[in-house]
Amino acid sequence: MSHYYPPEAYHELSEGVREVLLSAEQIEQRVRELGAAISRDYEGCNPLLVGVLKGVFPFMADLLRMITIPVEVDFIAITRYAAAERRNGAVRITKDLDEPIEGRHVLFVEDVIDTGLTLSYLIRNLTSRRPASLKVCTLFDKSRRRLIDIPLQYKGFDLPTKFVVGYGLDYREKYRNLPFVGLLSPEVFQPDE
Ligand code: IMP
Ligand code: MG
Repeated sequence: MSHYYPPEAYHELSEGVREVLLSAEQIEQRVRELGAAISRDYEGCNPLLVGVLKGVFPFMADLLRMITIPVEVDFIAITRYAAAERRNGAVRITKDLDEPIEGRHVLFVEDVIDTGLTLSYLIRNLTSRRPASLKVCTLFDKSRRRLIDIPLQYKGFDLPTKFVVGYGLDYREKYRNLPFVGLLSPEVFQPDE
């Protein structure tokens, strides 16, 4: 039983959402499993979980509470360049990590990996700061859209190559507060490019 309202309660907010792909219960169950695996693998390591704002915040909040060993958390905020000037996934860091990560066991926590360009840029950036280890945990993976190979140590769900919203994922800043993940109707979705 989820502690959220049933999907019907969100009907006003979910206008434009065609179908529920993952329910709040399914997400909670999978996050619990990921937390258990991380707790086991990082025992005694005091890992630092690093999230990319804003999309990751619900996942990070839930994952943290499913981890039973001591961990620390930090966030990085980025802005993507406009489509025309986007190169190699380069992004502008608008809020950097609060602390150095040299010698730390860093676990990168992502909401969704699509082309992988953003993450691969951030991995290069963080690797240059000499962490003891750097691994990736993503809740959603759209592997068929991947342009760059990124090893994923922890993965929640595979997603179709369609645009989804909810559980932190937005379309033009809307829908982040849906507790489930839904498929956006093609009539609503207007690609930026
Ligand atoms: P990429 O892996 O560099 O292509 O970009 C991944 C980012 O694109 C994610 O962190 C999201 O912000 C955004 N994104 C990718 N797919 C979706 C989606 O289906 N819904 C909402 N945001 C998405
Ligand atoms: Mg977004």
